[in-house]
Amino acid sequence: MDWGLQNRLNRIIKPADNRTVMLAVDHGYFLGPISKLEKPGETVDPLIPYADALMITRGVLRNCISPAEDLPIVLRVSGGSSVVGENLANETLTTSVADAVRVNAAAVAISVFVGSAYEHQTLANLAKLVDESIEVGMPVLGVTAVGKELEKRDARYLGLCCRIVAELGAHFVKTYYCDEFEKVTASCPIPTVIAGGPKLETDLDALNLVHMAIQQGAVGVDMGRNVWQSDYPVPMIRSVRAIVHDGASPTEANDMLQELKHAGETQPA
Ligand code: R5P
Repeated sequence: MDWGLQNRLNRIIKPADNRTVMLAVDHGYFLGPISKLEKPGETVDPLIPYADALMITRGVLRNCISPAEDLPIVLRVSGGSSVVGENLANETLTTSVADAVRVNAAAVAISVFVGSAYEHQTLANLAKLVDESIEVGMPVLGVTAVGKELEKRDARYLGLCCRIVAELGAHFVKTYYCDEFEKVTASCPIPTVIAGGPKLETDLDALNLVHMAIQQGAVGVDMGRNVWQSDYPVPMIRSVRAIVHDGASPTEANDMLQELKHAGETQPA
């Protein structure tokens, strides 16, 4: 791997432990101003000290995040459909690699919709993006999107998606946790991070999800709603970090969460 590309990837997946806690706030690109992300700058600000990278669109980055922040940016560069439109899978490349370089992105991210009517189009988008990105040493994150069909999230389907993303040249892949997740990671030759998906009933449920994913081969998370839709976002991301980077069990991480909550900690130490 070229030095620049590896260096960018190392800024996201930390070489010290080969792990990452990415914070995802790109949801508005198809969902609009969803709950707790109406003002992304305010949501993100207290979480920045605890995130290894920020997944975001160029519009929110330029308008809501200070360029003084020293945080690797994973720039979402696909989109073009909305939750109220005909088909979420009908995505195109919405941001050029030149613009990703201009905002000093550490990686670019693109969704693929395997098995959808737009399978070929989104996979071709990925291949084109890889060709253009490697020219400038920019890693590509492939996102195995399922649109509204959450029931698609089983190991056979996600294993297929992740493998195709890797075969087309992406450098890391974001997918969902599922039963037999170890089969997904075992057959995917690039690092895997998991999305959290819609807010789970409890924070402990989300911590369990993170722990199971790490135990079964994920290098980390690219999590959004289960962090910033929590009533305690800062304690929550700190507890996720404890699992991902410090090997905490879900119980230990939950104890930490409770302590931070009771200490009234909502801001970085
Ligand atoms: C996926 O492509 C979305 O844009 C989010 O980045 C992703 O779903 C991660 O966020 P969450 O943990 O809320 O699912």
